[in-house]
Amino acid sequence: MRVVIYPPNNQGVVQLPIDAIHKRRSVRKYEETEVTDEQLNQVLETLTFAPSWANKQGWQVMVVRSPETKAKVSEVLEHNPGQKAVAAAPVLLAVCMDPEASGQLPGRDYFMVDAGILMDHIMLEAADLGLGTVFIGMFDEEKVRGALGVPEPWRIVGLTPLGVPAKMPGERPRNELSDMVHYETW
Ligand SMILES: Cc1cc2nc3c(=O)[nH]c(=O)nc-3n(C[C@H](O)[C@H](O)[C@H](O)COP(=O)(O)O)c2cc1C
Repeated sequence: MRVVIYPPNNQGVVQLPIDAIHKRRSVRKYEETEVTDEQLNQVLETLTFAPSWANKQGWQVMVVRSPETKAKVSEVLEHNPGQKAVAAAPVLLAVCMDPEASGQLPGRDYFMVDAGILMDHIMLEAADLGLGTVFIGMFDEEKVRGALGVPEPWRIVGLTPLGVPAKMPGERPRNELSDMVHYETW
């Protein structure tokens, strides 16, 4: 396990989840094994740590364990590769944002950015606990709203199943770092 100590030479040592960043995968097959309340609470704690535009924290997260509700959401995720995972995993999380409460500047809607960061925090904390997730962002929002009963003006930005992986996917191909980074000039 690779652990980075931050801040260096400081007594208040914190272990950053570099290992979780490396081992996280999009998990689409789950065991029936329950997620304990302790595990769930640890994942949800990330809501109190994630950064957001002007610290607005314009999010609310729905936690669903009900098989009926998960089945309803899964049903409306037609053609999504994560469709079955939503019904199969013991927990479904839905990250919802209030755009007005999240901060907007002309041409820049920060609620999507804030939601993406929060989703990443959730996924990394889950990976650290040995749990699987997959960011599900492709769906008919009005149908998911109906299935979950999320009121306006809340936008549903991301869903993820949460559970013990039945199958851990391999590493997906990634672009070369040298093709993505510009030093000093573009
Ligand atoms: C914003 C966003 C939306 C995504 N939406 C979906 C989705 O709707 N369904 C799905 O199965 N995977 C979805 N994914 C997962 C990606 O397909 C996955 O992250 C990518 O293939 C890389 O694989 P990895 O996560 O295992 O590294 C989404 C990921 C992101 C970041």
